[in-house]
Amino acid sequence: MGTALFITAVFILVAGTAVNGCPLSDRAALLAFKAALHEPYLGIFKSWTGHDCCHKWYGISCDPTTKRVADINLRGESEDPIFQKAHRTGYMNGSISPAICKLTRLSSVIIADWKGISGVIPKCITSLPFLRILDLIGNQISGEIPFDIGKLSRLTVLNVADNRITGRMPRSIANLSSLMHLDLRNNLISGTIPQNFGKLRMLSRALLSGNRIYGPIPYTISYIYRLSDLDLSLNRISGPIPESIGKMAVLATLNLDGNKISGKLPATLMNSSISILNLSRNAIEGNIPDVFGPRSYFMMIDLSYNNLKGPIPKSISSASYIGHLDLSHNHLCGAIPAGSWFEHLEASSFINNDCLCGKPLKTC
Ligand SMILES: *[C@@H]1O[C@H](CO)[C@@H](O)[C@H](O)[C@H]1NC(C)=O
Ligand SMILES: *[C@@H]1O[C@H](CO)[C@@H](O)[C@H](O)[C@H]1NC(C)=O
Ligand SMILES: *[C@@H]1O[C@H](CO)[C@@H](O)[C@H](O)[C@H]1NC(C)=O
Ligand SMILES: *[C@@H]1O[C@H](CO)[C@@H](O)[C@H](O)[C@H]1NC(C)=O
Repeated sequence: MGTALFITAVFILVAGTAVNGCPLSDRAALLAFKAALHEPYLGIFKSWTGHDCCHKWYGISCDPTTKRVADINLRGESEDPIFQKAHRTGYMNGSISPAICKLTRLSSVIIADWKGISGVIPKCITSLPFLRILDLIGNQISGEIPFDIGKLSRLTVLNVADNRITGRMPRSIANLSSLMHLDLRNNLISGTIPQNFGKLRMLSRALLSGNRIYGPIPYTISYIYRLSDLDLSLNRISGPIPESIGKMAVLATLNLDGNKISGKLPATLMNSSISILNLSRNAIEGNIPDVFGPRSYFMMIDLSYNNLKGPIPKSISSASYIGHLDLSHNHLCGAIPAGSWFEHLEASSFINNDCLCGKPLKTC
């Protein structure tokens, strides 16, 4: 009996694996990861005890066959009972230990909304060949996105929004051939959008708002035929809007507000699949193209604070829907077209132009 136990124990040590549990090396890596973090309010790491890190360790799941750690899923805002019991959202400080790179079968790393985690994204993260999801939203992470992020050929989600990331968007980002969701919003990212951004053929959401990105919108963006949501707002982007953007098949939201965009409004935008269009606070000039038609369906169209001149085009009455419209703070002139879309609009949609008149402004 004693001998049998002894033999089993030796076998475990030799194989480096706990019985039916995670490898000792994965367990050690998780403990090193935990040691670099401090979570004072919920006690999520109290469950990280015992030999089998695949068994009831909060936020950890393993591949059922190999028992290797596959997912780290730690969200600081969640419906989980642990949060309800504590009557609060999560908070953690500390940093993300490079020890996680020893978890070589990781498929997802979600360490989101802990508000206080600082330090950098471990550079070695790009050596995790199976990584599909990297979600670090809502922390205080600084430093740059690893320059060789493009090595993560299986990555579908890259979300580092609401942190303090600096540096420019790595050129290799265009090599993320599986990427579907890119969210870099509200960081300190500078530099230009890589010219070959259009290589990201799987991308459906590109959210880069609230950074310090400058330079032109690469026309290659319009090659991304699955792109439905493009948000470049509140940056320092300049140059014209590529006409090809209005021809994209499924683009539904285009937010370019709060940049330095100049040139004319491409006619393609008025007659496109776009239903949310915010171009407010730029330097767009010329007339509003008179090409609205049955294909024009806008939940929201905000062209305020530009240098648009001329009349509001008559064809706008033939749009199939216009919910919210803001043309204020331009140099428009002439009679506001009559039409059902304007019945519900208030004067604020038209104020501060050169000489617009008619309902809801004063009669012409
Ligand atoms: C985390 O916050 C605690 C106070 O809540 C502080 O004592 C500790 O030094 C902080 N640790 C790091 C790594 O910032
Ligand atoms: C993108 O991938 C190609 C092919 O693997 C490689 O030659 C190139 O250097 C990569 N680009 C960047 C910027 O990493
Ligand atoms: C459009 O963008 C501007 C500037 O960023 C913002 O103030 C405005 O609220 C946005 N318009 C709508 C309707 O959301
Ligand atoms: C609107 O777009 C459709 C499809 O792209 C095109 O066939 C049509 O000619 C356009 N209409 C106008 C007025 O530009």
